[in-house]
Amino acid sequence: MSREVLRIENISKNYGKIETLSSLSLVVERGEMVALIGPSGSGKSTLLNLIGHLIAADSGNIYVEGKSIDEFNNRALAKKIGMVRQNLDLVPQLSVINNVLAGKLSDWSFIKSLVSLVFPMEKELALSALRKVGIEDKYTQQTSKLSGGEQQRVALARLLVQNPDIVLADEPVSSLDPARAEDVLSLMSSIAREENKTLVASIHSVEYARKFFTRVVGLRNGRIEFDMPTEKLTERELQILYSLEVG
Ligand SMILES: Nc1ncnc2c1ncn2[C@@H]1O[C@H](COP(=O)(O)OP(=O)(O)OP(=O)(O)O)[C@@H](O)[C@H]1O
Ligand SMILES: [Mg+2]
Repeated sequence: MSREVLRIENISKNYGKIETLSSLSLVVERGEMVALIGPSGSGKSTLLNLIGHLIAADSGNIYVEGKSIDEFNNRALAKKIGMVRQNLDLVPQLSVINNVLAGKLSDWSFIKSLVSLVFPMEKELALSALRKVGIEDKYTQQTSKLSGGEQQRVALARLLVQNPDIVLADEPVSSLDPARAEDVLSLMSSIAREENKTLVASIHSVEYARKFFTRVVGLRNGRIEFDMPTEKLTERELQILYSLEVG
């Protein structure tokens, strides 16, 4: 069986006159941990949103396990791809456990989903996810009353319940202090490794990219500047990637 899980082929995306991604191609294999780095505005979030099927490309194709992403319905795609966005998409007024169980919504009928908001079903499933991320004791709390780092863990627990093969994360630790950021990243990468998941995350810290990812893709002006195993990354590539001169 092929190890390829994601194939991005000649993807272009423009916003008005701004060319955000320009004929970008990328193949990701199962179990890889890919860090997307690059200056602000280089297209990292746009690329993740395209893979997560939140926006559509102007041209090009995306294949998930060999099948075009357009051929998946929402439920089927949620089994393959899960995403943590920077704003986490949690419902602040709901309890922690209900936010975690929202990871299951794609599996349930609409009515069952609504009922679960009142009486949490599959409680054990949610609790075991919360245990994994270390905040099991908070399950009845209102999510808005948790700290930023704890909310990040709720989003991770929801992802564990969703259990997709491919995890996309857009700056998953940008709002955390360094100790908690390392904690969340190490949790994320150990879960990914144990369960043979594929991880693609945008990240501003080159240090974290080096520490927690196996492959690093440098984006600049909507193009791939380099794509290499993390241990091969040198100061030279970084200087070119982040330099302020045009071209
Ligand atoms: N919805 C939108 N409407 C118009 N322009 C957009 C939109 N989304 C992104 N862009 C533009 O596309 C370019 C790339 O944006 P993107 O958010 O992908 O960058 P990024 O690499 O994630 O940056 P950052 O590191 O700051 O998060 C930017 O020039 C941005 O202004
Ligand atoms: Mg971004």
